[in-house]
This record gives sequence, structure tokens and C-alpha cells, in this order.
Amino acid sequence: MTGQVRGVQLARLLGQWHALPGRRRSPDYAALAGSVRGLLADGRLPLGVRLPAERELAEALRISRTTVTAAYRQLRESGHLASRRGAGSWTMLPGNHRVASTGLWTPLDDREMLDLGVAALAAPPQLLSAARAAAEDLPRYLSGAGYHPTGIIELREAVAEAYTARGLPTSADQIMVTSGTQHALDLVLRLALAPGGTVLVESPTYPNALAALAGRRARITTHGLAADAGWEPDLLLGSLRQTRPKLAYLIPEFQNPTGHLMPAALRERVVAAAHAVGTDLIIDESFVDLSMDGTEPPPPVATYDRHSRVISIGGMSKPYWGGLRIGWVRASAPQVQRLAAVRVGVDMASPVLDQLVAVHLLADAEAIVADRRVQLAVQRDALLGALAHHLPEWRVTVPRGGVTLWAELDGPVSSALARAAEEVGVRLAPGPRFGLDGTLERFLRLPFTLPAADLVEAVGRIAAIRYDLDRAGRQRWREPAVIA
Ligand SMILES: Cc1ncc(COP(=O)(O)O)c(C=O)c1O
Repeated sequence: MTGQVRGVQLARLLGQWHALPGRRRSPDYAALAGSVRGLLADGRLPLGVRLPAERELAEALRISRTTVTAAYRQLRESGHLASRRGAGSWTMLPGNHRVASTGLWTPLDDREMLDLGVAALAAPPQLLSAARAAAEDLPRYLSGAGYHPTGIIELREAVAEAYTARGLPTSADQIMVTSGTQHALDLVLRLALAPGGTVLVESPTYPNALAALAGRRARITTHGLAADAGWEPDLLLGSLRQTRPKLAYLIPEFQNPTGHLMPAALRERVVAAAHAVGTDLIIDESFVDLSMDGTEPPPPVATYDRHSRVISIGGMSKPYWGGLRIGWVRASAPQVQRLAAVRVGVDMASPVLDQLVAVHLLADAEAIVADRRVQLAVQRDALLGALAHHLPEWRVTVPRGGVTLWAELDGPVSSALARAAEEVGVRLAPGPRFGLDGTLERFLRLPFTLPAADLVEAVGRIAAIRYDLDRAGRQRWREPAVIA
């Protein structure tokens, strides 16, 4: 058991449960049970949490206790609730499931699923030759103990050179190699944020960044991105000045999930405003290499930094492969030393062999990244074409880079759609996963990291169930249901 949710809290989470799409033809108890399953599905209601007593929830929702009793019974029957007399009822999931890193529920072995929940490419063909070359290099390291808390020097130099080539002079002692960008974020938060500190994030934003912030018990404030234009400069600078957060976590390079690219002028103003109010900026550059259509990303945000306010994080996962687990932090040399001291209490160092693989991939960066950009542009266009054909009511802004697009749907149905899509073999990450308060039901993130034919097939299936959602009146649940 991880805790308890009170009646008023659950009522708030449930929101307009009685007015969900297709609701009219199902009884109240079934709609209530369906909405609780929905909250579990998109991660807003944790597993193993104790639900309020029936009477308490009935009062909070202003409905009869019998309705709550029947809803709880249905949830027990479908395997979403376990009850013990006198002790209460806990949320659970049916069947053999685990929590994926995104907090979504995935089956252990489901190769048939078209997975649009994950925004990452399969490995490039050059990975195998890089791994072989790395194995050849390994003997050079075997006479040492193998612990390099800031990373092996060859990789730090290669990463520093890439920053310098982007117009931001960087030395190897400003780089710390981590086990992925997520790890980089976690370490920076450990260093720079006391529990309960305030952090400004974009909304929508990357869900696992929210998970990292939750882990540090951060108080989160948000800056809402406009669906078509991205950051609203006056509002963003205004939020910084008003809330004076300890940190701001921003993804200016082809933002996940919207794909927006922050203009140079705003980068400069954000750094100046952050310095004026004493905010440190964590700049996530995961997607910076993946521009398309000849788009040139503006200078790195850290270019405008004169006071060591900007900590940049990035990694190999998006241009190369997530399975490498190689990321990095770029900061001042003293900050890197402090991060290394924090890191020793966490995981000591990253694997030497994987770092050597990264060195070889970076040596071949030009060719590999060029192929990735072409591949992604083809896949993006296939996805856009399929959406225009099958779901013309959905609105999308064409991303000029990154790996995702952020679709505005024709109704607040994102979670319902994600649940129904599981039934037809498509996994989706619904809009509310990318925000804090469940207000993103009109949006859906669609990555274009799968082959074009899979994307077209997935959109066809999504379109079929989108129209069914309105017609069918109620959700059907396969047993045991897979929820994501
Ligand atoms: C914005 C952003 N930051 C961090 C990560 C995590 O990357 P890594 O695999 O390098 O930990 C991702 C992965 O999707 C991402 O989209």
C-alpha cells in the first residue's frame, strides 16, 4: 500500500466522470467504475492506494452509496480493486503487469502491440560496428579500477567538442557523463533542489521529468505552451518574475511532446530573467540533433549565460539508441565536481564499455544523424498524411524536428481513446500524462519513431475506435484488461 486517497481528492480527480463520452447509455455505477479505471490507466491514481470508504466517496460525489457500492463491486470483479473487510479497498491491476518507466502499465510480453507510447527510435545499423570497435578499445581501460564518476575522458572530450561545434566553447572538465538524460536530471535535482523547492516546468512536458520532480517533492508551477506557437514570452518571463522558482526545467529544442523550438531572442530573455530572480535553468537538449526541413536550431541556451545559471543536459537516446543509457550534463567545472560527489552516493559511475560505444558513435555522428533526420522526416510525413486522411478534425502543428507531434483532438477523449486503442493493439500515451492536473484530455502525443507503415496502420485503427467511442456508448473491457 502506498497511501490513501480521500473522498474529496478522488472526486477532484474524477472531474466530469458522469459526462464522459458515450456515457449516456451506461448506468452511473459503470461510468464511475470506468472513470476510476481511466485514472489508473493514465497514472493519476497510483497502484496500491486505498480508496475512500463508500460512504465518504458517495458524499464527496453527491451520489447514492448504492452507486458507489456497485462501482466498487464492478472494479473488484474486473480485477482493479482488492478489498478486505474492515480494512478497506486498494487499487490494483488485473493480470500479469508491471509499471513501465513512464508510469504506464504494459504487459510483459506484447510484441504485437504498435507502441506509440514510447518516443524513441530503434538502434541505427552502425551500433553493432561501434560496439565491436568499443570491445577492441576496452583493454586500454582494464588495468584501472574502471570507476570514472565524471565519465571516461574520451567521451567527455567528444561531448565537449560537439558543444563547441554548436558555438558554445566547452572543455572536457565541464562535462559529466551520466547513465542517460533522465539520470542527469535526477543528479542535477539532487544537487540543486532542496525537498519542497519550487520548479517551473512547461505544460505539457516530459512525464518522466515530472516523476523526477515528484521524487524530490518539488512544488511545481507551470507555463502553458500554446498549441501552435509554443512559449508565450510575456507569460513565461512573468511567471519567472512572479514565482521566482529555485529551478526552471525547459526543453527548448523540439520540445517533448509539442516539437516546438524556442527562438533565439526568447532564450536570451529567459536567461536574463532567470538571473535577475535567482532561478537556475535546467535545459534539456535531448532532441537538439534531430532538426528537419533545413531548420537550424538557435544557439544553445547556455550561450547567453554569464553567471553559471544554466545547466544543460542531453544524451545519446534520441539520435542514437535509448538502450545505450548514455547521457551527460554540461555545467561549470566546479558544478561538475559537485555533481560527481553526489553521484558517488548513487551509482558511482557509468559502464566503461557503453561509454566507448558512445565515443565510436559520436565519431560517426554526421552520417548517423543525417540518416536519422531523413528517416524521421519520412515517418513524420507518413503520420501527418494518415492523420489528414483518417482524422481530418484533429489539429496538428507540423514539428520541424524532434520525434513527436502534439495533436489537438476533436473532443476531451484522450484517456478514453488510449484505453480503447489497447483493444485494437495500439498503445498511446494520453494527453493528461504530460501535465499535472488532468486538463490535457483534448490532446494526444503521437511519436513518429515507428516505421511509416506501422504509423499508417496505427492511425487507421485509432480512427476506427475514435468514431466507435461516440457510437458504442460504453467502453468494452477485455479480461484481463491491459491498461495504458
Ligand atoms: C525530454 C526528454 N528528456 C529526457 C529523456 C530521457 O532520456 P534518456 O533515455 O537519455 O534517459 C527523454 C526521453 O524520452 C526526453 O524526451
